[in-house]
Amino acid sequence: MKDFLTIIDCPVEFLKDLLRISTRLKRLYTFGGNDPCLAGQTLAMLFEKPSLRTRISFQVAMTDLGGHPIYVKPEDIGGIGKREPVKDIARILSRYVDGIMARTFEHSTVTELAQYASVPVINALTDWSHPCQAMADVLTIEEHFDDIKGINIAFIGDGNNVARSLAFACAKLGMKMIVATPAGYELDTETIDRANQVSAGCIRQTHDPKEAVADAHIIYTDTWVSMGQEAEKQKRREDFAAFQVNAELVKTAPDHAKIMHCLPAYRGFEITDEIAESPKSIMFDQAENRLHFQRALLKKLMSQQS
Ligand code: CP
Ligand code: NVA
Repeated sequence: MKDFLTIIDCPVEFLKDLLRISTRLKRLYTFGGNDPCLAGQTLAMLFEKPSLRTRISFQVAMTDLGGHPIYVKPEDIGGIGKREPVKDIARILSRYVDGIMARTFEHSTVTELAQYASVPVINALTDWSHPCQAMADVLTIEEHFDDIKGINIAFIGDGNNVARSLAFACAKLGMKMIVATPAGYELDTETIDRANQVSAGCIRQTHDPKEAVADAHIIYTDTWVSMGQEAEKQKRREDFAAFQVNAELVKTAPDHAKIMHCLPAYRGFEITDEIAESPKSIMFDQAENRLHFQRALLKKLMSQQS
């Protein structure tokens, strides 16, 4: 694997290896160890959208591994694909740096970067997917439930980039997911078909949040208004009003159910403050695990060691 663009294209062993390396490096760094496997290497980080977790955790991960991250705002380079074509940016950066990560609107921007770059390209979120988030989430689930096999995730809200990457992670790693959305906001059938072709019946959709959480180990939600959808904010808030993760919904789930959110959380909309702050919430463990997973990803793609 040269690049990390979408979970559905990754071999299962590659994903499991990333989880194993994440756990090993998490332990190493927690006890004061150090693995400078990327000494002398540079990562270019291109962002078309805002970021707290992804930006800072990648910068820290790269630094932890002895390498050097460079953060690039689109305006610094005259826009990605505007001042010059994406394929030229990919080839030029490949002559300067050892890896590229990009957060873009169009998913085709990261696939084009990968096609033309001779160095690894990492998808740091597109409108279509968020694979680093989903893998950090799997790591978090594994830590809380010991084994991910047989885990049921209830995804409540928008059938968006985060839901899609989780669906692909479920398909590849032996979990199941029920996605509860309002009508018109479902995951597309191509996504469902691709996931179910890998693992038959792993993804199901409903319009009833209570049905989704009835047998859940994980209740997962994300913003109703993703970056780039701000003009639809009012309509979306009305359409999603019955899909809030709140005490009333959570009490219909099994006692062992944990609450997850990729963050940032819009409290009072997709999740209440009460539930976000409850002992069931593991969203800060998720956020922390972005760092641990991304150290593993950078090591695997850029050092070619495991
Ligand atoms: N969850 C996540 O990707 O957060 P940021 O947008 O802050 O990077
Ligand atoms: N679905 C959200 C995820 C943010 C991390 C978005 O794309 O804005």
